[in-house]
Amino acid sequence: MVDVILGLQWGDEGKGKIVDFFAKNYDLIARFQGGPNAGHTLYVNNQKVVLHQIPSGIFHPDKINLIGNGVVLDAITLKKECEAVAALGGDYKTNLYISERTHLILPTHRALDKASELSKGIEKIGSTLKGIGPAYMDKTGRNGLRVGDLLDKNFTTQYIKLRMKHQRLLDNFNFQEDISQWEEEFFDALEFLRGFKIVNGEYFINEKIAQGNKVLAEGAQGSMLDVDFGTFPFVTSSSTVSAGVCSGLGIAPQKIKEVIGITKAYCTRVGSGPFPTELTDATGDFLRNAGNEFGSTTGRPRRCGWIDLVALRFACMINGVSQIVMTKADILDGLEELKACTSYKINGEAQQTVPFQMHRMNIDAIYESCAGWNTDISTVSNYETMPEKMKLYIGFINTYLGVPVKFISNGPGRDQIVSV
Ligand code: GDP
Ligand code: IMO
Ligand code: MG
Repeated sequence: MVDVILGLQWGDEGKGKIVDFFAKNYDLIARFQGGPNAGHTLYVNNQKVVLHQIPSGIFHPDKINLIGNGVVLDAITLKKECEAVAALGGDYKTNLYISERTHLILPTHRALDKASELSKGIEKIGSTLKGIGPAYMDKTGRNGLRVGDLLDKNFTTQYIKLRMKHQRLLDNFNFQEDISQWEEEFFDALEFLRGFKIVNGEYFINEKIAQGNKVLAEGAQGSMLDVDFGTFPFVTSSSTVSAGVCSGLGIAPQKIKEVIGITKAYCTRVGSGPFPTELTDATGDFLRNAGNEFGSTTGRPRRCGWIDLVALRFACMINGVSQIVMTKADILDGLEELKACTSYKINGEAQQTVPFQMHRMNIDAIYESCAGWNTDISTVSNYETMPEKMKLYIGFINTYLGVPVKFISNGPGRDQIVSV
C-alpha cells in the first residue's frame, strides 16, 4: 500500500514537515521526482534542517528511505546533505537507499542551466540553477548517466563523451564558466556515492509492498510547477503530480491509496510566471514577513498572495487528492479579513478553470471574503478549540474543493499540527 504526499500550489507548501510528521505511520519513505531544486524544512530536536534530495523520513531511526528513479541526483549536494543529516543523528548509512536508475546531475548540467536562463533574458524561468532542466533533458534525450552506471567500468568514458557534448552546447550559448572546482568535487562525491546502498528501486519497493510494508511517496515542488499541468513554461522539468509516483518509483497505480495534498492557508510562488492572486501591497509584505517566506534552497523572497481555490481545485482533480493538509494557518492570525479566489476573470468573463497559456493572459482574481480569526492559534492542539471563524474558513474551502481538510498545521514545529 502506498500513500502520497505532494504539493498543490507552486511548491514550499510545507511538505517536508508533513512527511516527517506522517512518517511514523509508514515503513518506507520515497522521493519520486525532482532533485536539489527542492528544499524541505524539518525541525529535529528544535534544530532546523533543510533536505534537498534525501526523503524527509530520514530522522526516524526505524524507517527506510529511498531516492527513486524519477529523481535527478546531485552527488555533491547529497554528500553535504548526508553530513548534515548525520550531525543531527540521522542514520543515512543504514536507512538510505538509491535506485540505480536515478539520473545524475553533472557539473555541466548546472552550467547549462545558467546558460539557458541567461539566454532567455526577461522571459527567464527563475530556475534554482541546480541543473534540473538539463539533467531531465538528457534523460528524455537518452544521453544521461545513471547512478547504476557508476559501477560500470566505462563510466569515465561515458562521462567524457557527455561532457564534450555539453561543451558544444555551452559554446553555442557563448557561455563560459570554469567548472574545474565543481568537477573535482563531483568526482570526489561520486566515490562517496559508490559506497551507498544502490538498489534496483522497482523490485526493492515492490518487494517491500508485497511483504505488507507501508510506503509514503514524497513529492517535491508543487502541482502548478508540473511539466505537463503547471504554468508552462514557468514550471520545473518533472511530473510533480500523483502520476509521477508510478513512473518515479516503478509502482502500479492500483497500489496508491491516499493522495494527501498540501496547501498553505494562503499562497506563494518563487521564480517567474503567472500568479493570479499575488499581492504586491502591504498584505503581501505582511505574509512574507510573518511567514518568513524566503526560499529554502535559494533564499530568494517568495511572492505571496491569497489562497487560489481555482488552481487548488484543478490540482485536486489532476492528482485525485483524497485529503488535504493545510499548513501555515497561524500566519493568518494577524489579519482582520481573509480572501479566497473563487474564479478568474479573463476578457470580462468569469471562469473556474485554469486556462492554457496562463502567462499570456490578464487574469483578475475574483475573491470571496471571510472574517479573520485574529487570535494566536499556534498553541492550539485540538480542533474543537480553534476559533469559530477559522472553522468557517476551512468549511468554505472544503465545500469549494469537495475534498476535506483533515489536518491544520499551526507552526513549523514537529508537533504543531491539529487533526480536524
Ligand atoms: P516544502 O518545500 O514544501 O517542504 O516547504 P519549505 O520547507 O520550503 O517551506 C515551508 C516553510 O514553512 C518552512 O520554513 C517550514 O518550517 C515552515 N512551516 C511549515 N509548516 C508551517 C506552519 O504550519 N506554520 C509556520 N509558521 N511555518 C510552517
Ligand atoms: P520544493 O520541493 C518552490 C521553481 C523555481 C522556478 C521553477 C523551475 O521545496 O517545494 P528549476 O530549478 O526546477 O529549474 O526551477 O520552479 N521551483 C520551486 N519553487 N519550491 C520548490 O521545491 C521548487 N523547485 C523549483 O523557483 O520558478
Ligand atoms: Mg521548499
